[in-house]
Order: sequence, then structure tokens, then C-alpha cells
Amino acid sequence: MADDTAKTAIHLEIREGLDGLTPARIVTLYRRAPLLRPVDRNERVWEMFEKASLVLTAWRDGDLVGIARVLTDGVLYSYLCDLAVEPDVQRHGVGKALLHEIFERCKGTELVLRDSDISSSYYAHLGFQRVGNAWVKYLR
Ligand SMILES: CC(C)(COP(=O)(O)OP(=O)(O)OC[C@H]1O[C@@H](n2cnc3c(N)ncnc32)[C@H](O)[C@@H]1OP(=O)(O)O)[C@@H](O)C(=O)NCCC(=O)NCCS
Repeated sequence: MADDTAKTAIHLEIREGLDGLTPARIVTLYRRAPLLRPVDRNERVWEMFEKASLVLTAWRDGDLVGIARVLTDGVLYSYLCDLAVEPDVQRHGVGKALLHEIFERCKGTELVLRDSDISSSYYAHLGFQRVGNAWVKYLR
């Protein structure tokens, strides 16, 4: 039986780049999603976006409803830093639409990410495989 929390797809405009974005819009979406990131300083948030290789946004009737941010060398590796969808439209295909754009634009690379408790089943559902050989060092 179909998942009864899944809803029909909505009409979206997908944009590449910073068009229409402001730090306030980004922070509001992250807090509402919620996507836990250190977004308490606007200038730092903006730098995160300006320095990203790829920023994709999803808009519905002029409202920002989704964001994805990727670092990539375009050849071997891509890192999906952030993916956040407005709660009112979650499970309407916004995240999937952003990911499919990333799959196209980063074709040929390994797309890696860090998940959270709430999103691990999501990435499994979209064909990602869990790997056990990742390491992280926090450079303070
Ligand atoms: C996780 C998140 C990005 C998913 O975006 P979304 O737009 O709600 O998801 P979609 O509508 O694109 O879902 C695509 C598919 O995954 C399924 N799905 C959605 N959320 C899921 C979940 N948590 N677990 C398993 N499957 C899920 C949908 O049912 C849909 O299935 P279908 O293609 O078979 O119809 C969104 O819920 C979100 O922003 N969450 C909070 C922030 C977060 O956790 N981000 C990821 C951090 S790593």
C-alpha cells in the first residue's frame, strides 16, 4: 500500500545560484525544516553559500521551499552539505527534485553526505549506500 503520508508533487521552479536568497531566508528555512547547522551569524551563512560549488533552490509561487548546497571538484567527488525542505511541503517531492538536479550536475562523481537520525531512511530510499570507512576531524 502506498505511504499515506506521501502527497502529490507540486509545481516547482528550481534555480541554480544565489538568486532570491538572503541569509534571513536561508536561516528561516533551516530552522523550520529543521536542519541543524551553526547559522547564528548572517555573514558566515552567506559565505557558506558564496563559496559552495553548487547551490540549488526550489521555489513555489515565489516562496523558497527547498535548498541544497554541494561542494564538488566535478570529476571525482561531490559532498552534499545541506538539504532542507520547508515542512509544509515535505513529502511532496521537493527534496527528490533537488537531488535529481544534483545527480545530473554531478554525474560521474561520488556523492557523499552525512545523514541524521531522521534522514537516514530517506537517503536509503533514494538509492544511497551506507559506507563505514568515513572519518572526520574537527578543525577548530
Ligand atoms: C529529508 C528531507 C530533505 C526530505 O525532503 P522531502 O521533500 O520531504 O522528500 P521527498 O518528498 O522528495 O521524498 C522523496 C521520497 O522519499 C520518501 N521519503 C521522504 N522522507 C522520508 C524519510 N524520512 N524516510 C524515508 N523515506 C522518505 C518519500 O515518501 C518519497 O518517496 P517516493 O519517491 O517513493 O514517492 C526533508 O524532510 C527535510 O528537510 N528534513 C529536515 C532536514 C533534514 O533532515 N535534511 C537532511 C539532512 S542530512
